[in-house]
Amino acid sequence: TNPKTWSDRFKTALHPAIATFNASIGFDIELIEYDLSGSIAHAKMLAKTGIISSDEGEKLVAGLEQIRQEYRQGNFHPGVEAEDVHFAVERRLTEIAGDVGKKLHTGRSRNDQVGTDTRLYLRDQIQQIRSQLLDLQRVLLDLADVHVETPIPGYTHLQRAQPVSLAHHLLAYVEMTQRDWERLGDVYKRVDISPLGCGALAGTTFPIDRHYSAELLTFGKVYANSLDGVSDRDWAIEFLGAASLIMVHLSRLSEEMILWASQEFSFISLKDNCSTGSSIMPQKKNPDIPELVRGKTGRVFGHLQAMLVIMKALPLAYNKDLQEDKEGLFDSVKTVKGSLEAMTILLKEGIEFKTERLTQAVSEDFSNATDVADYLATKGVPFREAYNLVGKVVITCLEAGKLLKDLTLEEWKSLHPAFENDIYDAITPKQVISARNSYGGTGFEQVRSSLKAARDRLNSA
Ligand code: ARG
Repeated sequence: TNPKTWSDRFKTALHPAIATFNASIGFDIELIEYDLSGSIAHAKMLAKTGIISSDEGEKLVAGLEQIRQEYRQGNFHPGVEAEDVHFAVERRLTEIAGDVGKKLHTGRSRNDQVGTDTRLYLRDQIQQIRSQLLDLQRVLLDLADVHVETPIPGYTHLQRAQPVSLAHHLLAYVEMTQRDWERLGDVYKRVDISPLGCGALAGTTFPIDRHYSAELLTFGKVYANSLDGVSDRDWAIEFLGAASLIMVHLSRLSEEMILWASQEFSFISLKDNCSTGSSIMPQKKNPDIPELVRGKTGRVFGHLQAMLVIMKALPLAYNKDLQEDKEGLFDSVKTVKGSLEAMTILLKEGIEFKTERLTQAVSEDFSNATDVADYLATKGVPFREAYNLVGKVVITCLEAGKLLKDLTLEEWKSLHPAFENDIYDAITPKQVISARNSYGGTGFEQVRSSLKAARDRLNSA
């Protein structure tokens, strides 16, 4: 049977298929703990302001706490007839506490209620994701610590450009995740605003104390305008934007790991605990984990797009469209948390850098050509002239099947009289890397100080 939900204005119950279509209980049950906390704060506020008696307030709080226990023990399973988590809780409360349960909704609407619940949920999730971002940074820094002097080819256009310190490469991701952490801290400020007491749209006739309920829920602020309070979802969009950027960063790192694990690059090996095989090709070892992270990025971008479209041109104030904010938000939270955890484990114990291969890789290409031009420029040859000349040297070497380091001193001198014997030192990978000691560059000294700065920042976060 399908009980009637609405006031006596309605004579019949909903068509069953329409009830199912309309219901959000299938997913908003995820909010139940927050719904209970929000209702407890509301009940305490009603008692404090004398809108209900303190005895009634205590009965409501006790009933709500009992529902929390029932839920935690796995004994609360509202069905579609409840429509949503808010009605489910109110109904159960009235079963438990009797008629006083019917007073809970005084001076409140599901519109400010659902906004409160979702914000409380997201505040918690943001804190968890921020701490996961720091865990990832810690693992990146631990890796960087041991690889300051490990070289890795640096690329532009995916063509060998200049070699860099592997630690420098890893520290680039530390910076990205630091921005993610800061960005979420900023989003948090806009999630941390209480809409409770905005009512359906216009406020309420009761002498409520919005600041008191907000304080009980430790909200930093309260919405200043009730229409805005019940219909604002900027904070959800901002969160999805921040979540999308986290996924951008994780997918870039994933892509690099996938490339590095290929036989063509062979910069890392995948350990058994974090890689997978093939059902047919016995030799295969696949980077499924970074591939999945790369693939999951699409969902979060999609949820951001969906939320923007939901909000576009939505008239004030609450519209049922807003019920659609939840599934994408929940899925994004789950996806970001799962991806962060997987990448952290992968970096910590699932891969190994092949340092010999990396060292060999940077000594068999022309990624030291800029340094030859810089060498001449230091000796007074204008850089553009030096650049052109080294281009010619490179083509000569390519034709002769040689590297720059293979040229004899006579050959160097015939190209330009400024070359001396120290050209050989100037173009070793180690020197090429350590010479780039400009602020933020890959020089070992710079990298060590960036590492220390990042570690200090992490320790004081
Ligand atoms: N389940 C609804 C939602 O998620 C709760 C608010 C319903 N409000 C309303 N006026 N129908 O948005």
